[in-house]
Amino acid sequence: MTKAFSDYQATDFQNDLAQTAKSVESTLASLLTIAHGNERENQVIEAMRQGALAGGKRLRPALTVGAARLFGVELDNVLITASAIEMLHSYSLVHDDLPAMDDSPLRRGKPTVHVLYDEATAVLAGDGLLTKAFEVLSAEATHPDPLVRCQLVTGLAKAAGERGMIGGQMLDMIAEETDLSEVEIVRLQQKKTGALIAFSCEAGGICAGAGEREMASLKIYGANIGLAFQIVDDLLDLESTAETLGKPAGRDKEAGKLTLIDIYGLDAARAKAQMLVKEAQDAITWAGEKAGFLHRLAEFVLHRSY
Ligand code: IPE
Ligand code: IPE
Ligand code: MG
Ligand code: MG
Ligand code: MG
Repeated sequence: MTKAFSDYQATDFQNDLAQTAKSVESTLASLLTIAHGNERENQVIEAMRQGALAGGKRLRPALTVGAARLFGVELDNVLITASAIEMLHSYSLVHDDLPAMDDSPLRRGKPTVHVLYDEATAVLAGDGLLTKAFEVLSAEATHPDPLVRCQLVTGLAKAAGERGMIGGQMLDMIAEETDLSEVEIVRLQQKKTGALIAFSCEAGGICAGAGEREMASLKIYGANIGLAFQIVDDLLDLESTAETLGKPAGRDKEAGKLTLIDIYGLDAARAKAQMLVKEAQDAITWAGEKAGFLHRLAEFVLHRSY
């Protein structure tokens, strides 16, 4: 009998997730090296390292690794791609925390980059991580096929840009001043968080040379996970503590920001996230045993505590 995704055990998942995070962290560390000696501009590299290396769940790289696994492609072959996506995600957090945006003093359990250094350095460190992500993606070591590298660069730029994450961040700022409808909140979240999460999944398929139908299933998985992830982020913001989250809690209410929890209520929001996760899992069952990691990762998104 062929094995099913459910044969992949929780302990295997925990080990694989931890291994992915560890590998991504050492890749990031080796990509962000301090140039010779004590040149003054090294401050920005130190701040970039702080933004990228100090903690984090490494969920987006895990999605890339999990997606590649559907096609039998292993960690080592997508590690640089996964790390470049995490670099870009880390930039988005450094900028998201700036006084002009969410004005947050705490991230991943540590003081934010602008608190540790200063605002100008945090802006530059974010810019540096964003730019570096594309330098890394376009380098030969990332993937032997230049067309694949080109698709990765274009895909990441679109997911992170004005029609994706940046557009969503703009809407998020506007949401502090305006009461949005359910449809508008979903659209905001699909952009600010969903686009990069969806691309993290697609990137695994791109690296593995997935066909059109498989890519379509990854897009469904990613879109559902993206929205579920942000609903859980909003639930945690409401219900958890800064100590557990490693970032301040209760900020959405404080900022007067409507989320889907205001629209649905707590229980229905949780149920919605659950339903989205199930939809995501259903989209990848075709891969059988190879879908084990992504299947459990979907559950992790739902049940995570930070
Ligand atoms: C936080 O993302 C920012 C959002 C998009 C909601 P994560 O919860 O993945 O943050 P880290 O990377 O684990 O710190
Ligand atoms: C951040 O959303 C999304 C991006 C960084 C693109 P939030 O502002 O809700 O994230 P947290 O709660 O600060 O991690
Ligand atoms: Mg924000
Ligand atoms: Mg924020
Ligand atoms: Mg939040």
